[in-house]
Amino acid sequence: MAYATSRIPGFYQLSIAERREILRLRADLTAADLTALDGGGIDPATADRVIENVIGIYALPLGLGLNFVVNGEETLVPMAVEEPSVVAAASNAARMVREGGGFEADADEPIMTAQIELLGVRDAVAARAAIEGAREELLAVACATLPRLVERGGGPRGLEVRAGAHPARVIVHVHIDCRNAMGANMVNTIAESLADRLAVLAGGRSGLRILTNLCDRRLVRVRARIPVAALAMKTGEFSGAEVRDGVVAASQFAEDDPYRAATHNKGIMNGVDAVVIATGNDWRGVEAGAHAFATSTGRYRPLAIWRPAEDGSLVGRLEMPMPVGVVGGTLRTHAGARLAQRVLGNAGTSATGLAMVIGSVGLASNLAALRALATDGIQRGHMALHQRSVDLTRTLADEQARQGQAKGEGKGKGEGGQA
Ligand code: MEV
Repeated sequence: MAYATSRIPGFYQLSIAERREILRLRADLTAADLTALDGGGIDPATADRVIENVIGIYALPLGLGLNFVVNGEETLVPMAVEEPSVVAAASNAARMVREGGGFEADADEPIMTAQIELLGVRDAVAARAAIEGAREELLAVACATLPRLVERGGGPRGLEVRAGAHPARVIVHVHIDCRNAMGANMVNTIAESLADRLAVLAGGRSGLRILTNLCDRRLVRVRARIPVAALAMKTGEFSGAEVRDGVVAASQFAEDDPYRAATHNKGIMNGVDAVVIATGNDWRGVEAGAHAFATSTGRYRPLAIWRPAEDGSLVGRLEMPMPVGVVGGTLRTHAGARLAQRVLGNAGTSATGLAMVIGSVGLASNLAALRALATDGIQRGHMALHQRSVDLTRTLADEQARQGQAKGEGKGKGEGGQA
């Protein structure tokens, strides 16, 4: 499904019912589809089958990221997040980026890597030779372990033998194309299926058998170009060129200083995690991959950087691992995640399509944060939105106090009142 546009002017001023109706019409949903969101997308009985010791449901606000154009496709983006201003900021940045034609993204094939640790290896050189000599046999075992993945066009793509820091430890990596799944279970199954044979080949014993979250063969790359006029602050306090230079300077600060890079990347993850969570994906895996990748040169680096282009526009580039899927996992049990996937339209139908949207939201969040930091500072906009939730808390508390008094519960003055 393709949207005519992801611009919905004045969306934030509408009631929730009105916003839902617009979404329903645009995403070709029924009113019944949207009721999945009423209880947070999952009921307690289902939750009880998902994890252990369930005592309830913990919900997050779900908002719609607007204005996104990714590889020419208008995209509405579901975002689950508790932090005020994340959705507004990403939408605002996406609006600037669309003035330069939108986000351009590409993603690697969905390759995850199984790690099999071999211990007690007496001769690492001979072990490597034996394992490499048995490569075809080992890949055939991996294929036979997951025949349905192979039928869907996925399966093992390669095998590498790595020397461990300790001479008696040899590590084998098996790269697996997981197609539209995130793939953790499949990769772990393959790791376990190969471990005994690898131990024999290495003349040792098998140790850990698990995927690596440093999935550096499953990267997403996103580029955005913003015309300088689109960057100017509406207040007139900062010209587009001043904003551009401020964003570039902020990027260079993050490139020079790991303390700043950590916060820079946190701003990227604000947008990334919101979509990862809304679509039922494993945000701990995405976080682990992001930060391990950020450190892969031996120094913690920003996941996105900004530079001026020759024509004066601002260009941003993001690169990071994006291990997400659109089948299996939480999607089986979480109606909210399934709905989020439908809202994404075409992007929600493939793991790489979803990865490219998520990367774009990460770059948008980064742009919004740097633009604010380089001009007004983050607190002005943030506090205005934060004030809304403070006001809401007060209103709710006042209402509860009124109801308590009407029922004659006779609370003392001020109790249950102001937050
Ligand atoms: C706050 O959630 C995120 C920021 O700190 C990101 C940044 O500093 O780039 C504003």
